[in-house]
Amino acid sequence: MNIGKINTELIEFWNDFFKEHKPMTLDKKDMKVEHELDQYIKDVGDYASTILDLGTGSGYCILTAALLGSKMTHGLAIDPSLKAIETLNETLKNSNINTIETKVGTHVILDSYEDGSFDGVLSSNVLDVVPYETSEQMIEEIKRLLKPKGLLMLKLNFYLTEDMIKRTKAVRMAHNTYAINGVLRSHNLTTEEWVRRFNGFRLLKSATYERIENGPLDRVLLLEKIS
Ligand SMILES: C[S@@+](CC[C@H](N)C(=O)[O-])C[C@H]1O[C@@H](n2cnc3c(N)ncnc32)[C@H](O)[C@@H]1O
Repeated sequence: MNIGKINTELIEFWNDFFKEHKPMTLDKKDMKVEHELDQYIKDVGDYASTILDLGTGSGYCILTAALLGSKMTHGLAIDPSLKAIETLNETLKNSNINTIETKVGTHVILDSYEDGSFDGVLSSNVLDVVPYETSEQMIEEIKRLLKPKGLLMLKLNFYLTEDMIKRTKAVRMAHNTYAINGVLRSHNLTTEEWVRRFNGFRLLKSATYERIENGPLDRVLLLEKIS
């Protein structure tokens, strides 16, 4: 597997995907917890003053932390997709939110941040849609950048069963890694396997979340950094 090439193709794929996303105008008073994902983001937003959203896309998680949570004074939203960040910037402007800083770039730009820079990290469907080696680097950065007792909200796609692999015509690219239409769409691990990758963390709670009505169940986890 050529990791560099796969990552470049992924960035192009997500940039195309975000061309369809339109900026929003949001108001705190209209926001409410609609499902477990919102609740888990709110948990982080009610605890952490500095929050990183890794692979923010058009900003669902960091915007939810800002609007449903009570503590955030500085959010950092990063994504390699220029289109996604442009959309998020418009939403921030339309909604008069000035606590969120945005940056176009991959997880590599986090190198320049000091250890313990954040007391909350959000990452929704990012670690499970990049090559394993890339997710290893991301996990190391999350471990380094979170303060002790910091909270991590991790959202993962549903676990792909053998039957789903056949039905979606997913093609195995590497161990536990599947592509659909030539693009990496799942590093497929059970919830327990994901939790085991976060040594030094404690699982506070986990739930499933129906992203599409009657569709397969996505997973949402809240972890605390112990040491
Ligand atoms: C499935 S989307 C999720 C977007 C957003 N978190 C959400 O839940 O709506 C995956 C995101 O990961 C981003 N991404 C891909 N490679 C990345 C990397 N190396 N570092 C940071 N983000 C990356 C993509 O640009 C894309 O926005």
